[in-house]
Amino acid sequence: MTSKKLSYGEYLQLGNILDSQNLQSAQKEHLVHDEMLFIIIHQTYELWFKQILHELDSVIDMFRDNYVQEENTGIVISRLGRIIEIQKLLIDQVGILETMTPMDFLEFRDLLSPASGFQSVQFREIENKLGMDAKQRIRFGKQSYDKYLDSDDRSKVLKSEKNPSLFILLENWLERTPFLQFEGFNFWNSYQIAVEEMINTDINRISSNPTLDDSARQASLKNYESIRKTYEALFDKKKYNKLIKNGHRKLSQKATLGALFIQLYRDEPILQLPHQLLTQLVDIDHLLTSWRYRHSLLVFRMIGIKIGTGGSAGHGYLKKTVEKHSIFGDLSNLSTYIIPRSSLPKLPEELKKQLGFYYTYGK
Ligand code: HEM
Repeated sequence: MTSKKLSYGEYLQLGNILDSQNLQSAQKEHLVHDEMLFIIIHQTYELWFKQILHELDSVIDMFRDNYVQEENTGIVISRLGRIIEIQKLLIDQVGILETMTPMDFLEFRDLLSPASGFQSVQFREIENKLGMDAKQRIRFGKQSYDKYLDSDDRSKVLKSEKNPSLFILLENWLERTPFLQFEGFNFWNSYQIAVEEMINTDINRISSNPTLDDSARQASLKNYESIRKTYEALFDKKKYNKLIKNGHRKLSQKATLGALFIQLYRDEPILQLPHQLLTQLVDIDHLLTSWRYRHSLLVFRMIGIKIGTGGSAGHGYLKKTVEKHSIFGDLSNLSTYIIPRSSLPKLPEELKKQLGFYYTYGK
């Protein structure tokens, strides 16, 4: 019996993929050349979203247990690294669509209505699985974002909202960070002295800066007062929880201290991979924000301040999401409390030993 050899086209299901560009303008018997590009760009986005979800799901699985297998940290980092590379491509890809002029777009735009990228299920799943907070979402109408989806799509999106997100799992992981308490060494006391010195130096610098006028000086000093307050809250659970309640912070106090410890002692061998992981999450968050910004500029260029096909205020709505839809902002904000390496409290020998690779220690 001769078996038919698998061909390139069959393996990749090209018959399905390449036969899935149904131009609305062609159906209306007035083919618009650029509609092909518009469809293919969106389809390629959706394929890359699928790949991102494939990586993200596997990372979430590795974080789900109460204990992350240490040998998995490297895999998590390489998969998050892949997501980052895809995101860069997704931002670049906007430029291809910008070869279409606003007038060419207008030739077929009304045929799409009321369909909109706002209904991209995979985009919502990515946001939710990363840890986007439903309460934090900007609304452009009376209804929440899921109400614009049909029932199958809605249940998928709501499921991704309910399952523990990477943000939640990371928070649990950070809360389990060992080394935060170490007998005979109160790390946080020594650290607090170093930060207070840093804040006071900055305040003195502002007070004696001759280039500032009075109102700029007052504004800067006010900003430093709020930095001092949030910094004090870092060590006061009650005050910190108030920040969370008022929507100024998302990450728990314990997890924040864990992340801060990792950031500060990133050079210690055991903390290098965790530090890389935190940096990648900040990268993913920033790239998502950059995509939102790039997309909002594209929209402004294509439709100005007209409403979107999904019914939003268009560019105005998207601009707000750029500012408000960040997921790992608390990790970026830790930089406010980073002190120079030279001011870091010295770790006790025993702790340093635990943070190192035992076979090189003392050599
Ligand atoms: C001519 C090009 C485009 C225009 C004029 C446009 C316009 C808009 C507008 C106005 C919105 C707000 C919702 C609405 O009222 O419809 C929106 C949302 C969205 N669009 Fe686009 N878009 C374009 C291309 C793209 C592309 C290539 C993608 C790639 C997948 C995309 C994905 C999205 C997503 C995910 C949202 C939801 C964003 C959010 O709610 O945070 N759009 N778009």
